[in-house]
Amino acid sequence: MRTGEAVKQPQAQTKEALAQALVARLGEDVVLLGDQVAPYCRDWHGDVQSDAVAVLRPRTTQSVSDCVRAAAELGLGVVPQGGNTGLVLGGVPDTPATQVVVSLERMNRVRSLDADDFSAVVEAGIVLEEFKNKVAQAGLYFPLSLGAQGSCRLGGNVATNAGGVNVLRYGMTRELVLGLEVVLPDGRIFEGLSRLRKDNRGIDLKQLFIGAEGTLGIITAVSVKLMPAPEKTATALLALSSLEDVIALYRHARRQCCDLMSAFEFMPPEAFVLAAEALPDLPLPLDGSHPAYALVEISGSGLVDIDALMAAFLEEGFENGMVLDGVVAQSQAQARNLWLIREGMNEGQAKRGKHLRTDVSVALSALPAFVAEAEAAVMAALPNALCVSYGHVGDGNVHLNVLPDPAADGPQTDADIYTAKGAINAVLDRFDGSISAEHGIGRLKRTDFEARLPDVRRDMLLALKDALDPASTMNPGCQLDLLRNAAG
Ligand code: FAD
Ligand code: LAC
Ligand code: ZN
Repeated sequence: MRTGEAVKQPQAQTKEALAQALVARLGEDVVLLGDQVAPYCRDWHGDVQSDAVAVLRPRTTQSVSDCVRAAAELGLGVVPQGGNTGLVLGGVPDTPATQVVVSLERMNRVRSLDADDFSAVVEAGIVLEEFKNKVAQAGLYFPLSLGAQGSCRLGGNVATNAGGVNVLRYGMTRELVLGLEVVLPDGRIFEGLSRLRKDNRGIDLKQLFIGAEGTLGIITAVSVKLMPAPEKTATALLALSSLEDVIALYRHARRQCCDLMSAFEFMPPEAFVLAAEALPDLPLPLDGSHPAYALVEISGSGLVDIDALMAAFLEEGFENGMVLDGVVAQSQAQARNLWLIREGMNEGQAKRGKHLRTDVSVALSALPAFVAEAEAAVMAALPNALCVSYGHVGDGNVHLNVLPDPAADGPQTDADIYTAKGAINAVLDRFDGSISAEHGIGRLKRTDFEARLPDVRRDMLLALKDALDPASTMNPGCQLDLLRNAAG
């Protein structure tokens, strides 16, 4: 399908000459060089440290366009970056001599916040938590919530179609986006910051950029839906005897709490150990001695009695024997501490060193069998490894992570991670699941993605890329390896 002649050839110029050419075109204020480049070329876990010709930090949409045009003229690939919290290396360059990072961190203004329309128009570089706080000050709520929200930026959330803990009620990021402003690979600006909720004028082009991980353009601003702020939230941490029971309880909660359930997360007993390693002062109201835990949140406003709803739900859970132990937060601070157990798990795993992170989904009813079979497959291959399965079970999405034998050296750890990934993916394929429920493909999962891509879908993706980015300027190497496809 793709012939490859459109794929840009690497520049013959030296890195230094390319960097100086960027400064000449864009000015010193925009271009970071030398030691300042390194932090933008390291992934969140520190597994990979790469490099780039330069980091470009535009302040306006027009300046983003100038950056893209300059890079294209010099034959450089453009790697867009938000908060650099992505977990699949999509925002980290992989060919340092021919790529620049374009960071959106200086484009962080709220352009408008319209309480009457329940919408806002905001620049792509705003940190998610800052945006949520600004929205809260206006008495509204932006529901996207994830552990990285103190660092990730809205444009990155849109580019990865981020999930997080509130998806079961509010949907993925895609469902929160009303419109986009995007700088295209040729520097033109797609102006689509609509605030309309219903608009069926043909194909909805903004959808192309959501989840594209920066391969089709740079998102510079986003128009989003806002919600009324829930006046009351009830949060409970519950102990159960198995993942099967967690899923059964989830089904029960969906029926009993209607649309008011906003989170339903699964944690294994290791969560408490890992969270304590990351946050030693964190109070742990339950001790991790049960096989499975659920973190449940119900929220609402007005006449609905959220506390009564939670109490009735729990009473039934205890009565039918599904819930073995539990605690309901009595204050916002207590609720926050329960969430810190869930969030501390990630940091605890990071502290243990290099490990496999997965991001898989299967049909809800298949989740317990999938986790049991995949963990068994990993343990058969790597008896000294630790499997840690947790996450957004209400969405059929589990992070089945594997911490290799701590006694292994670097090369052995890498080999174990590869083995564990193969074992999990083999089971996942039998369950007809997805290798990426929420984190995306990036550079890390590209090979696994391509290996599972049906021909028709690959042809459509390559045709899209060819149509919008024939010179392959935008995030080359992310999602699809065009050069290899062209050669093959
Ligand atoms: P970056 O890492 O900077 O970039 C991610 C990708 O988007 C890259 O391919 C990049 O090129 C592209 N990109 C960034 N900005 C733009 C732009 N403006 N225009 C075009 N392309 C762009 N993810 C979830 O889905 N759910 C979770 O629950 C979750 N929890 C996390 C918890 C922790 C502790 C961490 C470290 C990460 C977590 N993530 C989660 C992953 C990550 O936070 C999300 O993928 C997030 O959406 C990335 O945003 P970012 O601004 O950091 O993007
Ligand atoms: C989480 C990230 C890893 O759910 O997606 O914690
Ligand atoms: Zn997640």
